[in-house]
Amino acid sequence: MISNELDAREQALIAVAREAGELARELFSKPIEVKLKGKQDYITEADGQVERLIISRLQARFPQDAFLGEEGGASGEGDALWVIDPIDGTANFAHRIPHFCVSIAFMSAGELALGAIAAPMYNELYRARLGKGAFLNDRVMRVADANIKQAVVELGWSSRRPTRAYTSLIERVLATGATFLRAGSGALGLAYVADGRTHGYCELHINSWDTLAGLLMVREAGGWTNDFLAGDGLRRGNAVLACAPGLKEALVAATGVGQANEKLERRMS
Ligand code: IPD
Repeated sequence: MISNELDAREQALIAVAREAGELARELFSKPIEVKLKGKQDYITEADGQVERLIISRLQARFPQDAFLGEEGGASGEGDALWVIDPIDGTANFAHRIPHFCVSIAFMSAGELALGAIAAPMYNELYRARLGKGAFLNDRVMRVADANIKQAVVELGWSSRRPTRAYTSLIERVLATGATFLRAGSGALGLAYVADGRTHGYCELHINSWDTLAGLLMVREAGGWTNDFLAGDGLRRGNAVLACAPGLKEALVAATGVGQANEKLERRMS
């Protein structure tokens, strides 16, 4: 994609992430309908409303582009693809916990090119562009390297993997000397790694709409991520590990995520 086409999408992305964040903030303060899609897997009226707003704005500007959204599934085809999570941290949203965000990524010819995450209750807009850095509002983000014994690693959970696999992951990460948290938004978890607030994020299965924008931010902020899109990560999801570069070896060994990348990187060096 030529640079001015990407410039136009970057501007539209930032504007729509802000607008969608504002709509999510408004809906957060109103009574809304909440349902369960699966075990501890929530959907609210707000998810649909925010996704429809995002798609309508982007479709009006870029009618040829394709969309993959958490609520609406896939539409359109082609090399320009928007990947949308209207509300990431839906369980938090449903329980009136303000830790949620809107997450939108843009891929050009299979390559992750743009990402934006709006956390409206914190007045935060995170954004990244391939090769051009990652920003929180107007400030450049950098990952924070730490000794593993001082590291904070977020370990995401969903019922898509067995409970035993999650508790074992916690045990293995704690055995490194790091501590863990689970705050309930994978997208914000990754943005926090990019901003050096935490040092790593790992989850044994997560969907592309929860992760792509944040993964680009971590990379652009100097961090390391596994090859999330390997296999059919885009449509089926995958395991994710993102961290400060100094923690990669310890966290790959503890979590088992990213071992394939490690082998490939060794073969290429
Ligand atoms: C979930 C959140 C959660 C993560 C789950 C996701 P949703 O997305 O990102 O933190 O652990 O894997 O499904 O349902 O809030 O959009």
